[in-house]
Amino acid sequence: MDLKYEIGQLLSTAISELTQEEIMSILEVPGRMEMGDYAFPCFRLAKVYRKAPPQIAQELIEKIPASPFIKRVEAVNGYINFFMNPAPFISHVLTSVLEQREKYGSSIMGEGKNIVIDYSAPNIAKPFHIGHLRSTVIGNALYQIHAFLGYNCIGINHLGDWGTQFGKLIVAYKKWGSKEEIEEKGIQELNHLYVKFHEEAEQNPELEEEARGWFTKMEHGDEGALSLWKWFKEISLKEFNRVYDLLGVSFDSYAGESFYNDKMEPIIQELKDKKLLEKSEGAEIVDLSEEDMPPCLITKKDGSTLYATRDITAAIYRKNTYDFTRCIYITALEQNLHFAQWFTVIRKMGYDWHDKLVHVPFGMVSMETGKLSTRKGNVILLEDILKESIEKTKAIIEEKNPNLENKEETAKAVGIGAIIFNDLYNNRIKDIVFSWDKILNFDGETGPYVQYTHARACSVLKKAEVKEQNLEEVAFELLDDDASIQVCKVLEGFPKVIQEAAERLEPSLLSRHIMDLAQAFNKFYHECPILIAEEEIKRARLALVESVQIVLQNGLRLLGIDAPKQM
Ligand code: ARG
Repeated sequence: MDLKYEIGQLLSTAISELTQEEIMSILEVPGRMEMGDYAFPCFRLAKVYRKAPPQIAQELIEKIPASPFIKRVEAVNGYINFFMNPAPFISHVLTSVLEQREKYGSSIMGEGKNIVIDYSAPNIAKPFHIGHLRSTVIGNALYQIHAFLGYNCIGINHLGDWGTQFGKLIVAYKKWGSKEEIEEKGIQELNHLYVKFHEEAEQNPELEEEARGWFTKMEHGDEGALSLWKWFKEISLKEFNRVYDLLGVSFDSYAGESFYNDKMEPIIQELKDKKLLEKSEGAEIVDLSEEDMPPCLITKKDGSTLYATRDITAAIYRKNTYDFTRCIYITALEQNLHFAQWFTVIRKMGYDWHDKLVHVPFGMVSMETGKLSTRKGNVILLEDILKESIEKTKAIIEEKNPNLENKEETAKAVGIGAIIFNDLYNNRIKDIVFSWDKILNFDGETGPYVQYTHARACSVLKKAEVKEQNLEEVAFELLDDDASIQVCKVLEGFPKVIQEAAERLEPSLLSRHIMDLAQAFNKFYHECPILIAEEEIKRARLALVESVQIVLQNGLRLLGIDAPKQM
C-alpha cells in the first residue's frame, strides 16, 4: 500500500481534468500535523473551473469517495487536507517489514540487467588518499543498493597501474632506491622516490627522457622493466588490501589500466578508420571543438598511450564482456572534463550505448590538519585514519561502557562506520570537512548515533525475550500516538528511498532516511514505555521496535556499515 497513491486515486475520481500522475505530483506533505498527512492545493484548478480555490476545495471534498485508509478529509483555505486512518496503515507497514525482514525494501526491478560500477581505483605506488576513500565508499554503497534491487553488479577496481609515471619510478629506483627500504616502508617509500624524481628532474631534464624510455620499454613488454613494475604493484596492493579489509569492501575484478595495454591498438586503428584521429604536433587527438571541449589526447608524440586511451578501450571491452545497461564511474569532480571528453569520443565512434556511461562525481574532503595526529612525511595515510578512528572509538567505549563484550569488534564496526557514514551523509557533490569531534559524536547526526539506536532496539528486544510473533494477533491499532505513527511513516518510505538512491546514484538519500528513522525511533522510545506497558500494548510496541531494528540494519548494510547488537 502507498498512501500517496491511494489519495491520488481518490482525487482522480473527483477531478477529471487532471491525470492521477499530475495529481500526485501536486500533492504536498504539510509541515504541521494538524493539516493532515497529505494536502492537495486547489490553486491550479482555479483557471479550469473559473472559481476561487476555497470554493473548489469545498465542492471537491463532497465528491471524494470513502476509503478505509482515510479517516477524515477537510477543506481549508483552498487546500484539501487528508488525514489517514492510522490502524490499517500501521498494520500494513509493520506486517510488511516483519514478514520480509532482511528483504524489506528489496526488489526484482533489476533482474537480468548488468551494471558495471567502476570505483576506488587508487594508483599504484601512490598513497590511498581520502579521495579514493570517497570513491570506494560511494561505489560500494551503490553496488549494495543496486544488488538489493536485483541488478547484477560488476564491481571493478580500475587500478591506476599503467602510465608514464612508472618510467619515472623505475629511473628513481635505479638511481636512489633500496630494495630493503621499499619492502619495509611500502608505498610511502615509492612515493618518496617519485617525489624525488620530480625534484631532480627540474635540475636535470634528461631524466624525463630516460623515464619515457623506460615506459616505452614497458609498453613493448621488456621483462626487466615489467618485473620491477609488477613488484611495485604487489607492494601497493598489499597496502590497498589492508584498507579494503578494514572497510569490508571487495571487487569482482581488478582489471586496471595495464589490463588494456594489448587492447588499445585495435581501438586506435578503429579511431583512424572512422576518420576521428588527427595529428597535432606529433600527438594524435580527437578534435572536440564542435562540442566546445579541448581535444581528447589519444597518443603522445613518443607514441605512448594515455589515461583516456585506456578508458575508451576499457569501455568497449566492458560493453562486449558484460553487456551493461549502465556503466558508472565514481571519481572526484575534477575529472568531469576527462569523462565528458572520452564519452563524446565513444559517441563519435558511433556507439549508441554512449548514453549508458555515467560519471558520478563527488566533492572534495578537506582535513582539519593538525588535528590528525598520524602524519608520516607529507602524506596522510588513509589506513592510519581508519586505525585512529577505531582507537578513538575504543576509548569512548572504555569510558561509556567498560563492561561491553566484544569491545574490539565493536570498536572496529563503529570506528569504521563513523567514517563511512560521514562520507555518505551529504549530497555527494558537496565538499566535506573531516572533523573527529563531529564524526564520532554519539549524539550528533552520525554513524555511531544510528548504530547506537540500532543497539538500543536490540537491547529492548533481548530484554523482552521476543520470539517470533503471530502477527495476526498483534493489536496494531494501539500504536495510534504521534510518535509511533511517525516511525511507521518513515518505515513505509524506505523501499522508495532505496530506488531513488539508485536512480539518482545518491547514497545520501538512504543515509538521511535512516537518520530520520533513528531520530523518530528515539522520540518514540522516550515517549512510549515498552517493557512496563500493559501486555497488549507491549506486544504492539515490540513489533514496532523489531521493525525499526530490521530496517536500520538493512539500511546500514546497504551503506556498507555493520550494525552491532551491543554498544
Ligand atoms: N586512478 C584514477 C585516480 O586516482 C581513478 C580511475 C577512475 N576510473 C576510471 N575508469 N577512469 O584518479
